[in-house]
Amino acid sequence: MRTRVGIVGAGPAGLLLGHLLAQRGVDAVIVENRSRDYVEARIRAGVLEQGTVDLLTKAGLGERLHREGLRHDGVNLQWPGERARLDFPALTGKSVWVYGQTEVVKDLVQARLDAALPLHFEVTETVVADLETDRPTLSFTDSSGARQVLDCDVVVGADGFHGPSRGAIPEPRRQTWERTYPYAWLGILAHVAPSTDELIYAWHPRGFAMHSMRSHQVSRLYLQVDPTERIEDWSDDRIWTELQTRLSLDGWSLETGPVFDKGITPMRSFVSSPMRHGRLFLAGDAAHIVPPTGAKGLNLAVADVALLSRALVALLRDGNARLADTYEDTALQRVWRTTYFSSWMTTMLHTTSDDPFDHQLQLAQLRQVFSSSAAATLLAENYVGLPLGE
Ligand code: FAD
Ligand code: PHB
Repeated sequence: MRTRVGIVGAGPAGLLLGHLLAQRGVDAVIVENRSRDYVEARIRAGVLEQGTVDLLTKAGLGERLHREGLRHDGVNLQWPGERARLDFPALTGKSVWVYGQTEVVKDLVQARLDAALPLHFEVTETVVADLETDRPTLSFTDSSGARQVLDCDVVVGADGFHGPSRGAIPEPRRQTWERTYPYAWLGILAHVAPSTDELIYAWHPRGFAMHSMRSHQVSRLYLQVDPTERIEDWSDDRIWTELQTRLSLDGWSLETGPVFDKGITPMRSFVSSPMRHGRLFLAGDAAHIVPPTGAKGLNLAVADVALLSRALVALLRDGNARLADTYEDTALQRVWRTTYFSSWMTTMLHTTSDDPFDHQLQLAQLRQVFSSSAAATLLAENYVGLPLGE
């Protein structure tokens, strides 16, 4: 079999890349080791930057997003006794949207199937090879058990943190930067109307807590926990009690409801270079991970794909290699800026010690966001998202 671009992974990065390439007349095949049901149900990110929404809309993927997504013009930061709001349009002229990653993935899968474009679920033994030649290959065993070899012009690793693509770059060429944070997020989804119109990020001496949502009927909440905690030890009652303590504010109450999903996610920052080796390009979590505190992971994957789709169209349709050659440098600038922002939000809001000095420094940073318009604008600009590179 032959295609121009072989894409490993049907997460947001791989699916969106396939969509943008198809719109510009470049063929691609996407292979995914999980089932369609699994990728459409995997609970992850919830907040889309303005630039992500604009890109999806322009790509013809905005219909349900604009009908069901919730536009948010601000977020709240909280510490004991205070809840303060950042007004995004006033500070940046932009907004963010609450629309789950599950929904983005469903829309992308549906668009691909409607267009009858190749998307193979439940593949095994995915191998990328011959990356230093101009005929790289993507091989896999399809769901019927048949071995397939795709001859490609380019292979893209959009296979997330655990996928095989990054490991196909020779070890001596690879450099990684990594930080594992000494805490994790316990997240729940509950059938209860959100107790807030906009997200709440709360610093508390017992640890960070957050109130987010998926719709007017479904709330998403998180608690900072030790990474060694086991979800079995957290009954729904214990979770709600802890949320109530950490999110409490005079005159406000947290509504509770039936929990239908819960899990614990470790927190890490990770950047791997190069994002290109020969005819292999990496995009999204395959090349970098940010902790979820700034709501950046999915948006960063989309930003990579915005750049990469343009680079591959120029290379494969127009014979112009300039954008492909600058992809990594351009992408990594945003990656590092976003890594910095996510790490700053994370360390400002999570508690790691009982040292009252550390706590006061965190509170001073939080208060500064609301006493300095420069600090407020900086946080807001990063949160709503940097412009997508042209
Ligand atoms: P992925 O979504 O990981 O997609 C990669 C795809 O490749 C997957 O479908 C995978 O099954 C597939 N794949 C892997 N190996 C192979 C193989 N061998 N062959 C074929 N396919 C393969 N971000 C936020 O902003 N907020 C959050 O609250 C948040 N929560 C998260 C919770 C978890 C548990 C995780 C893991 C991430 C979370 N993120 C969050 C990050 C965000 O979801 C990711 O940044 C986003 O999914 C990146 O998209 P991607 O397409 O690059 O990677
Ligand atoms: C979510 O709704 O899942 C969410 C929102 C904001 C974040 C992280 C996760 O920073």
